[in-house]
Amino acid sequence: MIRVEGLVRKFGSTVAVKGISFTVHDGEIYGLLGPNGSGKSTMMKILAGILSPTSGRVVVDGVDVAENPLAVKRIVGYVPETPVLYESLTPVEFFNFVGSVRRIPTEELQERVETLVRAFGIENYLGEMIGSLSFGTRQKVSLITAMLHDPKGLILDEAMNGLDPKSARILRELLLQFREEGRSIVFSTHVLALAETICDRVGVIYNGEIIAEGTVEQLKEFAHEESLEDVFLKLTESQEEVSNIVRALKDTL
Ligand SMILES: Nc1ncnc2c1ncn2[C@@H]1O[C@H](COP(=O)(O)OP(=O)(O)OP(=O)(O)O)[C@@H](O)[C@H]1O
Ligand SMILES: [Mg+2]
Repeated sequence: MIRVEGLVRKFGSTVAVKGISFTVHDGEIYGLLGPNGSGKSTMMKILAGILSPTSGRVVVDGVDVAENPLAVKRIVGYVPETPVLYESLTPVEFFNFVGSVRRIPTEELQERVETLVRAFGIENYLGEMIGSLSFGTRQKVSLITAMLHDPKGLILDEAMNGLDPKSARILRELLLQFREEGRSIVFSTHVLALAETICDRVGVIYNGEIIAEGTVEQLKEFAHEESLEDVFLKLTESQEEVSNIVRALKDTL
């Protein structure tokens, strides 16, 4: 379980996260939706223990991230929005490197690498340098890396980015299986149709604050809208703005 309490993160005079609280239960996929710059990635970095909060608390499986960031890194897998990989290593070398840093027993590591490599279909790229791989293949390497240590929780920042339809479907099935196994998943995306199909609950984040939270059905009811896209645009005060911009474009183009 992941519990976020009154999280605040400042960058100089910018307050990127303004007192956010939410809970992700075991066996739950929690979607984070929000416009560009609303604070999603900042919050996810804090959840993953790689950025410290200005104030507030994150507790993962009973462990306070600020008190024991190492323990939390052992429990969660994190996929950043931009993959952080060693360009001059091959995927296999990188998996082995991460495996040794994480002290994953060799046999277990090999087994997991094999399963995940097969699932994402990157067998043919294992000997290439990461720097030469396509955008989507790098994303697959990043996803596999985050899952090597059999994490109890996953923090996925726009993880479907760049994946072809087959790989996106496989990741989706994998996440549903993880949920079935009782793991907690935090998942940010701009693809609202995807959020609608896999998230048990979503939080809409706007200007560093959660402005609405619930199941997709609850949000639709709350906003009196039929689609999650309309809910999103209404809550983030973009609906009227989008109409005005579209009208202006029609007039000028
Ligand atoms: N390292 C940093 N230094 C200064 N400001 C930062 C830093 N990281 C993020 N910010 C600021 O914090 C705010 C939130 O950024 P963040 O990356 O969390 O947004 P986001 O919701 O993930 O956006 P996107 O949908 O574009 O990925 C922005 O105003 C951004 O400029
Ligand atoms: Mg982001």
